[in-house]
Amino acid sequence: MLLVALTTLLVTLALLWALYFRRRRLPNEPPLDHGAVPWLGHSIEFGRDAAKFLSKMKQKHGDIFTVQAAGKFVTVLLDPHSYDAVVLESSNKLDFNKYARLLMERMFDVRLPDYDPAVEKAMMKSHLQNKSLHMLTKAMFSNLNTVLLHDREKLSTEWKEEGLFAFAYSVMLRAGYLTLYGNESAHDNNPLLQTKDLEHSAEVYNEFYQLEQLLMKLARSMLSTEEKKEATRIKKHLWELLSVGRLNAKVNRSSWLEGYQRHLEELGVDNVMQSKALLLQLWATQGNAGPAAFWLLLFLLKHPDAMAAVHAELERVFRSKGQMLPETEAIKQEVLDSAHVFDSVLSETLRLTGAPFITREVLEDMPLKLADDGREYSLRKGDRILLFPYLSPQMDSEVYEDPEKFKYDRFLNADHTKKEDFYKGGKKLKYYNMPWGAGNNMCVGKLHAINSIKQFVFILLTNFDLELKDPDEKIPSFDTSRYGFGMLQPRSDIKIRYKQKKRVK
Ligand code: HEM
Repeated sequence: MLLVALTTLLVTLALLWALYFRRRRLPNEPPLDHGAVPWLGHSIEFGRDAAKFLSKMKQKHGDIFTVQAAGKFVTVLLDPHSYDAVVLESSNKLDFNKYARLLMERMFDVRLPDYDPAVEKAMMKSHLQNKSLHMLTKAMFSNLNTVLLHDREKLSTEWKEEGLFAFAYSVMLRAGYLTLYGNESAHDNNPLLQTKDLEHSAEVYNEFYQLEQLLMKLARSMLSTEEKKEATRIKKHLWELLSVGRLNAKVNRSSWLEGYQRHLEELGVDNVMQSKALLLQLWATQGNAGPAAFWLLLFLLKHPDAMAAVHAELERVFRSKGQMLPETEAIKQEVLDSAHVFDSVLSETLRLTGAPFITREVLEDMPLKLADDGREYSLRKGDRILLFPYLSPQMDSEVYEDPEKFKYDRFLNADHTKKEDFYKGGKKLKYYNMPWGAGNNMCVGKLHAINSIKQFVFILLTNFDLELKDPDEKIPSFDTSRYGFGMLQPRSDIKIRYKQKKRVK
């Protein structure tokens, strides 16, 4: 009895102490919401379903507010007209790297010596864009052909069943991995040698996919002891598969891999840490494209008008540029660039399913001026600022009519050019769709990702008949723990049937 009374007293005192000393909102600061639990604040709700939680907070406080989560104060800005004030601010005031480094270490055990992230970014850009893009597109086409058209498992003129997510993610990751990290041997379309690539890339995918299941908990330090052991086991296996020795023995290594390895060597990073960094890069470069391809195919399968429009465009653009897809060795960039219906389908898919956070650490007390009505707020040193474009503009009913609906031609003008004028509050938006991030957070692999997804879908639709096993099955709901980490993933897979098309000779 005495013990209960004593515990109650102590808890009450602790709560009173926490209430008395807790942070108070200062003049000009955004509305402050501590949450019910001292220190932890809103962290549980936030991690469980950030979109739901932040929508609720937006309704309560408007488009700027500060919430407490796991001891940290996070100011959330949801006015897309004002995003430039964050994404274009100097890194001396709003730092992008501190939090990224924390996650790198927590998720992938990567600790790199001090380096200039701007230099790394420029290096990555030079190997993923401009002249390098053409080489990547060609290699991706060849590797997609290997994975899709030389795998006996997939080649059948009888219907085969598989989960669409597993299908799309594995094809994209395996082909994307072979493109960036290299082939097991030069195969020149020799089926025996292609088998090596098929087996090795399947092993990398299978291990990576298992790790994927644990990554969100890993990022939030919420793994159980058993899960921690499992994550360590998988990572060790992947580090072996991506060891410097194995990678150096590959052929057709991309200039991106050469450039990144050189960069790590110049920093004095040892071989063990290099394979850890290469696993982190496998996630950064391959973690989004497969899920994006999954959602795109699912929306096409669920919307026959969209599928018909994509098929018609596919025929039209290849014919007009004098290419025949089944016979070609590479798809011309001009063919890829002229698929405007596909571009709209992809933008619409990413609007609905691309949900990265854009975060910065506040390095000094500073003002934040909003664009529309000149409101000015104070940001506090040590806090974090967060933009969540998924809520606004992407799912904002003021910007998009029926924002929850898939409309394949939403990003097309009547003359089939790209539609870029979207409005909020009567003012044209600079940022109307941000699945690729913005400013310093902008994805450096965007053009390669778009080319890769297009090539995958074109090869697939040309060579296979594809349908949902049960056309009435509902689109699966999101795994809500993934908000903030890029492309969303479904809570469960959905079955498709596919068979190789019979060629008319
Ligand atoms: C649909 C596919 C993709 C989407 C939606 C996407 C989106 C993003 C986003 C939002 C970021 C910023 C993350 C952050 O700063 O917090 C990012 C970063 C990055 N992306 Fe992508 N990405 C995709 C595919 C790719 C591909 C295929 C590659 C490379 C081959 C790639 C390479 C990278 C790299 C290297 C970074 C890190 C850049 C840095 O260090 O600043 N991405 N991506």
